Amino acid sequence: MRRFGLTTALVGFLLVLAAPVAGATSGEGTPANETALTIGHRGASGYAPEHTFPAYDLALRLGADYIEQDLQLTKDGVLVVLHDETLDRTARGPEENCTGSVIDKTLEQIKTCEVGSWFNEENPGYAREEYVGLEIPTLEEVFQRYGSGVNYYIETKNPEEAPGMEEELLRLMGEYGLTGPAAEQRQVLIQSFSPDSLRKIQALDPSLPLIRLYDEEEEDSETIREDLEEAQTYAVGIGPSKEDVDRSLVSEAHARSLEVHPYTVNEEQEMEELISLGVDAMFTNFPDLLGELTVPDTGGPPLLPLIVASGAFVVCAPLAIFGWLLLQRHASRSS
Ligand code: G3P
Ligand code: CA
Repeated sequence: MRRFGLTTALVGFLLVLAAPVAGATSGEGTPANETALTIGHRGASGYAPEHTFPAYDLALRLGADYIEQDLQLTKDGVLVVLHDETLDRTARGPEENCTGSVIDKTLEQIKTCEVGSWFNEENPGYAREEYVGLEIPTLEEVFQRYGSGVNYYIETKNPEEAPGMEEELLRLMGEYGLTGPAAEQRQVLIQSFSPDSLRKIQALDPSLPLIRLYDEEEEDSETIREDLEEAQTYAVGIGPSKEDVDRSLVSEAHARSLEVHPYTVNEEQEMEELISLGVDAMFTNFPDLLGELTVPDTGGPPLLPLIVASGAFVVCAPLAIFGWLLLQRHASRSS
């Protein structure tokens, strides 16, 4: 009876020990999107046509913290949201309106183009009939649709070719309540490959948080690190290509209070690697992926080996004592 009681106590104790061990090995940890912010690159552009309302809506539904806009300026001075300088890749419609450079077209011309068909052709797995006919949005239409309820990550594209782009961006942000306190809360991050464009924005409104992008072809970790001292004079973070991110870049950027937001990260494995390097956010065409990943908790001492060692001790020590007592008893009987 006494032996049964001892066995029950031991088994119970082992089960209590096993629970945290099982938890630690069954994928518990912190969701990756709590470790690094998710930037919906051109919206959820892996699933829907880039820079369209369906792509932005989906990015937000899938948990993106920011939706990205690439800006182009029309001939008549309107900011529209399109990645390429020209219409050729993604726009379809009357040739005179929907081919060539955006800067050479009026808004009226741009609005005759649609940007959904190309996506359906290129991505039959995600094609939808309702994508055909989607317009190129103006930045103002984006602000009208989403208001101050979402976070924007806006890029001045080809600003050298589009004088006045920065002023028009800041005018619209002011009109839609996205400067002042909203800027301080980082509701809008403004990014550019052009340091001149960023410095111009800083001069217009020093409170706006800016991100310095670095070109994948022209830069590497070392050249970016050499520029950090300069970048920290106007930016709150850097946007390198994922290929250029290594531990030294992240630590040197952080030492200068610059966040690191690599682009464009579409594979789970590269997301995990970048998170282990300590990046603060990442651009992705698939905003759901980051939310599905779990990052192992690293805080505190390594618990698993500690628990296993304690368990082994608790099990073995009584057994050893019990065995020793048996031996003693046997020895005294036989003497
Ligand atoms: O803005 C970050 C990333 O989007 C830069 O590359 O060419 O997609 O604008 P791109
Ligand atoms: Ca961009």
